[in-house]
Amino acid sequence: MESKELKSIFLDKFGDADGEIRVFSAPGRVNLIGEHTDYNGGCVFPAALSMCTTIIARKRDDGVIRMMATDLGEMVEGNIENLGAYKKLRWGNYQFGVFQELKEHGYPVVGADMLFHDTTPHGGGLSSSAAIEVSSAIAMAALGGIQKINHIDMAKISQLAEHHYIGVNCGIMDQFASAMGKKDHAIYLDCKTLEYELVPIMLDGYKLVISNTNKKRSLADSKYNERRAECEQGLEILKTAYPDITCLGDVSTEMFEKNGHLIENETIKKRVQHIIEEDARVKRSVEVLKGNHLEEFGELMTASHVSLRDLYEVSCEELNILVDEALKIEGVLGSRMTGAGFGGCTVSLVREDCIDRFIEEVGNNYQRSVGYEASFYISDIGDGGREL
Ligand code: GLA
Repeated sequence: MESKELKSIFLDKFGDADGEIRVFSAPGRVNLIGEHTDYNGGCVFPAALSMCTTIIARKRDDGVIRMMATDLGEMVEGNIENLGAYKKLRWGNYQFGVFQELKEHGYPVVGADMLFHDTTPHGGGLSSSAAIEVSSAIAMAALGGIQKINHIDMAKISQLAEHHYIGVNCGIMDQFASAMGKKDHAIYLDCKTLEYELVPIMLDGYKLVISNTNKKRSLADSKYNERRAECEQGLEILKTAYPDITCLGDVSTEMFEKNGHLIENETIKKRVQHIIEEDARVKRSVEVLKGNHLEEFGELMTASHVSLRDLYEVSCEELNILVDEALKIEGVLGSRMTGAGFGGCTVSLVREDCIDRFIEEVGNNYQRSVGYEASFYISDIGDGGREL
């Protein structure tokens, strides 16, 4: 939907009033490689999508916040004096979490009418929630009068809202990609230092195809926190050999080969092995993509999937079917699950002239095995959060 159409829906729902109507947006993301490494101080390599959350917003002077989404009938209402009270909302809790966190960080939080329009599929592992959080943070900071918005700060605040308000101890990747993305670039981000590099993605005759399992991610949150705790246990054990390490991102594959045996619990050892090898795959991926070695990048993607499936154990049957079917198609260089896992999407590197066949065959075979349809998107790498 165009801004013009959204503005007319906004006026229809919230009525005419004084005050400027402003438009903000922030995208979802696809992670090219580097899964579950972010909260371990490792590297990730996500890109912002052109699928995004758009917010039409107008400031109010009475401290009341009213919000609606184009795909939901009801309006939620809150007050800036009582931001902690909306955790149980089925929709709107992410936004209130962000507003609360902004306030705690000294940002102005003002009353507002806000209409939300999402094009990132919900619960699909493409960070529709980061898109909502980051767009809300940018919009509220701007309505509050901040002229020059610090996007990295908006990403951090959005992440903290997820920890404190939603109860998921997520890493920084999704919010960072949503806040800092750049058209046709992926972000090589060191999650320990937040140093980053924008790497142009020129895929010479290939495209990234996203396949959505359309399976809702039910157990994802509790399993996510469980994996995080397992990694922390592994880190504590490795510290007995390497007292200076502060996160698994500090551990090289050589260090793990030498002292990984100290971790006696096989499950924890597998989790740690995944993180350390995945981190190395990210670094290698950036190198090979800079050199335009797409075949090797494809192999790294597939290796990442195998590791997420067998070592980190966050894949699921539906994701594995999509990857296995993808790899049978001519012109596919690599395929992997993307995001937290347990459902959501895969990303595959597919030669342009093979995409139609990819969608047809992977789609048919998926439906035959699973009983419902997958969805496919050709991913366009878009810009990060901003006022339009
Ligand atoms: C979710 C989290 C991210 C990251 C990924 C897995 O998307 O929000 O921080 O941990 O899972 O890579």
